[in-house]
Amino acid sequence: MDVFDSKYFLYQNNQLYCEKIPVKEILEEVGTPAYIYSKKFFIDTYKEFDSSLINFSHKIFYAVKANFNLSVIKTFSDLGSGFDVNSEGELYRVMKLGIDSSKIIFSGVGKTANEIKIALENDLLLIKAESQEELITIDSIAKNLNKKAKVAIRVNPDVDPKTHPYISTGLAENKFGIDMAEAKEIFLNSGIYKNIEFTGLDMHIGSQIITVDPFVSAVEKVSDLFQKLKLEGIHLKHLDLGGGIGVVYNHEKIFSADEYVGAISPYIRNLDCEIFIEPGRYFTANGGILAGKVLYSKKNHDKNFIIVDAAMNDLLRPSIYGSYHQILPVEMKLNREKILADIVGPVCESGDFLAKNRAIIKPEQGEYLAVMSSGSYGMTMASNYNARRRPPEILVDGDSFRIVRNRETFEHLLYDEIF
Ligand code: LLP
Repeated sequence: MDVFDSKYFLYQNNQLYCEKIPVKEILEEVGTPAYIYSKKFFIDTYKEFDSSLINFSHKIFYAVKANFNLSVIKTFSDLGSGFDVNSEGELYRVMKLGIDSSKIIFSGVGKTANEIKIALENDLLLIKAESQEELITIDSIAKNLNKKAKVAIRVNPDVDPKTHPYISTGLAENKFGIDMAEAKEIFLNSGIYKNIEFTGLDMHIGSQIITVDPFVSAVEKVSDLFQKLKLEGIHLKHLDLGGGIGVVYNHEKIFSADEYVGAISPYIRNLDCEIFIEPGRYFTANGGILAGKVLYSKKNHDKNFIIVDAAMNDLLRPSIYGSYHQILPVEMKLNREKILADIVGPVCESGDFLAKNRAIIKPEQGEYLAVMSSGSYGMTMASNYNARRRPPEILVDGDSFRIVRNRETFEHLLYDEIF
């Protein structure tokens, strides 16, 4: 049996706790499936990263796509974080909290004209541009609004982040960013964009990167471009290193925030600019679980299946990336048989699984299981497939908890329909 090494989700007397609350107590009140988050995890992890960067003038922009529950965003905002958004919807969420627009940056390879207009009207700190056509569009929208758009260019440094191909973004073959040589030309000819002020350089090479090497290679290339531009008289205000810092899902050996900063320090030390960073997963993944209830166990031929009430629509990662998430009993039962089983949901797809061929203590009907490391890209990627209502989200804070999003209602499922 895997033992999850966490201060925030841990066993006491064979009961899984989130901070000081037994997970079972929450589930008996809110039902299953349910997302449960530890507020202390979010706070501690943010502060740890912030202090690793203490020797640099820096700003953190939490990438809200990882977990955009308003209470989670508010937790980071209270710590002084800025926010990275990738759509009008994400911007809407952040602005709904009254967060100062100068703390928001807008990413994305395909922003619509309307999104650019909204970003400019609201005076966001910056918009990242990922193509020359996008720059022309930003320039013309800014002109119409009689504004000077603050823009950073996201470059594609052509570095292999050695992660799942679907979440690699910094290779030449990926759709993201602008080729380094082309970016240099754009900066050198920036005068043609009359309504743009070029404020910085940006990269984001991928997600769940588990060694520092790809970061070092990319930062080396991007900081070199930064220095070359300086020699040409182009003094940018910031270098944005993106997110992508990996976390432990199984027993991966992963670098710490200090090691990450230490490894890239030689390249950013003398740039004389502000360093921006945009982690999403690092701040949230291991701060959350998805809990479900065992509906049935069965054997098809020689294969064991444990069917739970949480499914791919609640947590898509195992189905689309083959991602590993530890699955632990909410109540640890000793002296039980251990089996190899697929842990699957009720959705009508063979791709609906949370784990495959997993060694697990055989649970009984009605018992609860916790899918660990579900605080990132869980609820934000959830859907209503099979007309399943998305789960509630619960935020634990020490010895109390709050439902920060209710389980969806059946009315919600029909809300936008015209009949
Ligand atoms: N900045 C930009 C521009 C991004 O595109 C992303 C993530 C981040 C920051 C935050 O990356 P993080 O620190 O969380 O790795 N659904 C996938 C992950 C997709 C990440 C997309 N971009 C998953 O579940 O693994």
